Amino acid sequence: MIALTVNGRRRSVQVDPSTPLLWVLRDHLGLTGTKYGCGVALCGACTVHVEGEPTRSCSTPVSAVAGKRITTIEGLSRNGDHPVQKAWIALDVPQCGYCQSGQIMSAVALLAKHPKPTDAQIDEAMRGNLCRCGTYPRIRAAIKRAAGIQET
Ligand code: FES
Ligand code: FES
Repeated sequence: MIALTVNGRRRSVQVDPSTPLLWVLRDHLGLTGTKYGCGVALCGACTVHVEGEPTRSCSTPVSAVAGKRITTIEGLSRNGDHPVQKAWIALDVPQCGYCQSGQIMSAVALLAKHPKPTDAQIDEAMRGNLCRCGTYPRIRAAIKRAAGIQET
């Protein structure tokens, strides 16, 4: 049995310790907001927070996060009204949507560290999150909106 705290709830799962956290979240805990893209830490679709740090759940064995605090997209807010989610909705950021929970989790972690991020800080924080639909300009604008930065 491996014990985790996911979105504020203590959970125990009986899985092989090498099972990627992504599959524990999706298949064992039913948290399907976190997506599978590449499986090898290259696309960011599977990003969750572990102790507040953005983490690629596809390549994190569940044993590495035993006892740690994990937050998924479902844990950001009850009604989709986290300030970053609200900015995403206001600017219609998603296209197909597949990459967007990972994008939002990276953006939330960025703003926790840098409440008024520079363009360089946004680039640095978001460069591992790929979007095949090319929504990058809207992602950047939504991060700035959530941060209360006026676009010039
Ligand atoms: S699915 Fe994890 S980084 Fe692509
Ligand atoms: S919105 Fe389609 S991959 Fe990003």
